[in-house]
Amino acid sequence: MTQAPVNVTVTGAAGQIGYALLFRIASGQLLGQDVPVKLRLLEIPQAVKAAEGTAMELDDGAFPLLSGIDIFDDPKQAFEGTNIALLVGARPRSKGMERGDLLEANGGIFKPQGEAINAGAADDIKVLVVGNPANTNALIAKSHAPDVPADRFTAMTRLDHNRALAQLSKKLGVPVTELKKLAIWGNHSATQYPSVQHAEVGGKAVEVDQAWLESDFIPTVAKRGAAIIEARGLSSAASAASAAIDHVYTWVNGTPAGDWTSAGVVSDGSYGVAEGIISSFPVTAKNGKYEIVQGLEIDDFSRARIDASVAELVEERDTVQKLGLI
Ligand code: NAD
Ligand code: LMR
Repeated sequence: MTQAPVNVTVTGAAGQIGYALLFRIASGQLLGQDVPVKLRLLEIPQAVKAAEGTAMELDDGAFPLLSGIDIFDDPKQAFEGTNIALLVGARPRSKGMERGDLLEANGGIFKPQGEAINAGAADDIKVLVVGNPANTNALIAKSHAPDVPADRFTAMTRLDHNRALAQLSKKLGVPVTELKKLAIWGNHSATQYPSVQHAEVGGKAVEVDQAWLESDFIPTVAKRGAAIIEARGLSSAASAASAAIDHVYTWVNGTPAGDWTSAGVVSDGSYGVAEGIISSFPVTAKNGKYEIVQGLEIDDFSRARIDASVAELVEERDTVQKLGLI
């Protein structure tokens, strides 16, 4: 192994997602089977001991690609020299809450982390925000990292994308590998718009009836997080970790020809989405960059759904502005 290890910082390392995520990173699934990694775990002081326990288990995995683990309770140290930052640490919602209810509780976490990334991360830093409300937390972190190119800050809607793939695959009775060009637009919230407008099955346009889309597919995908909390008593963890792995792997290694994926990225105003907010779009990845797919025709139904979710993101931006977080 000749390549220097890639530094990966994971916040909330002692939490449920952390527990599912760290072992997959250590086994090479985040970056590839030929890329050694060094883990930098960030926790709050009360959870450092639990993170140390997880680090002992990581040691016990004897992972060939894992070249070291450091644990911190100080963001400045945790992000020093890091190449990939997975911002997971935040409070999850419980039954009856919407993700937006976490804005005030969790928003405060992302300002110092943005500052620490700005101060010390490596030049090629890539940031994925998982902690909810993910889009607006990513906006907070980005706005405190003025020296880092804005396109390095992303929010996770890959879990929603994967959920949409799974639901459509069941409906059509085809494997997920047959499905292309699904898209999640807007916020990682109940207003998100999982779109099949451009979706293809086996190379042909997907045809499903509008009633199923409106009364089944869209609400099932958009409210899946709440359904999991209701069933498990805890928010999704292994599927969230899996989506985080997919998001970063695709970002680094690219999307396959003829397909795209979904990610929360900084809006450049494409499709009338307010410039500067972090919204989910259909995106391709090439040469280590996510780019918004351009030139798609948007029908009236899609337009209304996208606008509604974007309006919620604009409201969240205005709220964090008032709270002095951006
Ligand atoms: P958890 O409560 O099990 O773990 C969160 C961890 O974060 C805890 O160990 C806590 O000590 C730590 N933490 C809190 N503040 C921190 C800080 N300032 N710095 C570092 N660590 C800190 O929660 P979880 O189930 O792992 O979920 C984490 C977050 O991910 C939640 O906000 C949840 O809603 C969100 N989530 C997002 C998606 C998505 O698709 N975007 C999916 C699932 C969960
Ligand atoms: C999810 O989508 O499962 C997570 O965002 C957790 C939640 O609060 O829904």
